Order: sequence, then structure tokens, then C-alpha cells
Amino acid sequence: MSLPAVAQATAPGKLILAGEHAVVYGAPAIAFAVDRGTTVTLRRRPGPTGITAAPFTDARLGAALAAALPGEGVGVSIESDLPVGRGMGSSAALAIALVRAAAALEGRTLSPAAEHAAGFAVEAVFHGTPSGVDHGVCGAGGCVRYRRSADGPVFARLPARSGLGLWVIDTGAPGETAEMVAGVRARRPAIDPALAAIARLVDRLTALWCAGAPAAALGPLLDENHALLQDIGVSTPALDAAVGLARAHGAGGAKLCGAGGGGVVLALSPGPGLAAAAAAQGWAAFPVGIAPPRG
Ligand code: MEV
Repeated sequence: MSLPAVAQATAPGKLILAGEHAVVYGAPAIAFAVDRGTTVTLRRRPGPTGITAAPFTDARLGAALAAALPGEGVGVSIESDLPVGRGMGSSAALAIALVRAAAALEGRTLSPAAEHAAGFAVEAVFHGTPSGVDHGVCGAGGCVRYRRSADGPVFARLPARSGLGLWVIDTGAPGETAEMVAGVRARRPAIDPALAAIARLVDRLTALWCAGAPAAALGPLLDENHALLQDIGVSTPALDAAVGLARAHGAGGAKLCGAGGGGVVLALSPGPGLAAAAAAQGWAAFPVGIAPPRG
């Protein structure tokens, strides 16, 4: 069998509905894959493996490629419509697209478990000690409840809800996940009650989400999660202002998403005018959909 000369794979980005940071310590989180993502194209070529095109530069890219590809013979092209370093899973989508494409170049397809394990090696280059929720949901698609356990990752698929009016406000400032996770770790055990409250909130939100509760019922839990993320020290004045803007424009609830320190806010069912009001602050606001589960 001759191996392909070119292989391509795509993976979606993600947003965390609730549970970031607590998930690092074994609590559950709810996350969904978004209708934006990253495509990796690999082409055999002579010489060292390296980037031929990418929409961003990052000193860690070389190490990320080395975690998934041979050192020689592959040109890597990356396309993405995910904002980088904003909590929308740009590195996780890259990790999954890269390991899928690398397997395809070798004429293989990975099982979900093998893909998750291979994705960990790439995510670790960017995030140090990832919980696995980011590349887990990027690999699984749809909406999942994720928890890491001593026996490995535990996934439960949740219904992919529609009609919730999911909006993102991108404050434009990047956050550094490894730094934010390290900051939270340094603030323990003082912040452990807030981390435990996040875990309990995820259980309440899971029940409401699965019961088909409307945005008006889910929103207050997003507000509560944002307040707890403030308590653990990962919000910023810009993120708080973006949450306030979403609420002022009728959102049922809003929270920062991902590691914090910058990045995006998720708003539930904002009314009209949010995009213009965000633009007036120099931010982008756009609707986002839930990507379908992996086929
Ligand atoms: C980052 O998107 C989510 C964090 O919980 C880190 C992780 O789970 O690896 C902050």
C-alpha cells in the first residue's frame, strides 16, 4: 500500500460553558465544540519538517509539530478562523487536527482514545499540564461533560442544544493558559471553597442543560460561574466589562470562557445592539453555534 503524499484534517474550537480551572483538579466541566476551527494540511517534502503557512506565529509551534510528526519530510500548513489565545481552543483544535492529519499521512485513523492521548502530547507543549477538556471536546464535537480521573478521561455526551442565542465577545487581549493555571495553583488552598462551588455549579447546570431549560434559566448559573472565576483571580477589568455589556444588552447570563487573563466572554441570548456596542469598545461580538458531534 502506498502512503498518501498529502493529508488534511480539521477540528473545531471550543467554549467552556462551566467548570474551567476546577476541571484541572478533577471536577467536571461542560464544554461544547464551536462552528469555527482549524485545518492542518501535511505534504511530504524533502528536508526537515516545518511550517509552510500559518495564520499566527508561536515559538512553541516547532515543539508541537515534533510531538506529532517525524523530524524530517513533512511541510505543515495551518488555516484557522479561531482567535488565538482567547479561550476558544485554538491550540486544542490545532492539536486534534494535527494528530488526525499525522495519522492520515501514515494511512491510519485513530480511535477516539488514541486521538485524545496523542492530542495530550501536543496540548502539553502549549499548556504544560492540561486537564484534557479542551482537546477532548474539540475531538468529540458537540457538547460534553468532561472529568479527568485517575483511570483517565471520563466523557459524557450531553444534548447539543439549539436556540440558546450563544454569543461571544472577544476582548482582543490574549490570555496565557499555562500562566493562569499556575496562578490558580499558587492561590490554593485559600480558593478551594470557590473551586468546590464551581464543581457543584457544574452539576446543577448539567441537570438544567439536559432537561432542556431555556436560556433564562441557564443564564444565572453563567453569572454565578463568572463571579466564582473572579474569586479565584482569573478575570480582568476588560472581561468584567464585557460581561457587564452583555447583561446591559439583555443577556440572560455571561461569563469569561477558558483560562481567563484575557480572551472571550460567552453571553446567553443577548438582545440586539450588542455587536455595535462591543465594536464601540474595540471588541468583536459574534454569534456562535455548536459544532456537530464527531461522526
Ligand atoms: C482552559 O481552556 C481550561 C482550563 O481549565 C485549563 C485546563 O483545563 O487544562 C483553565
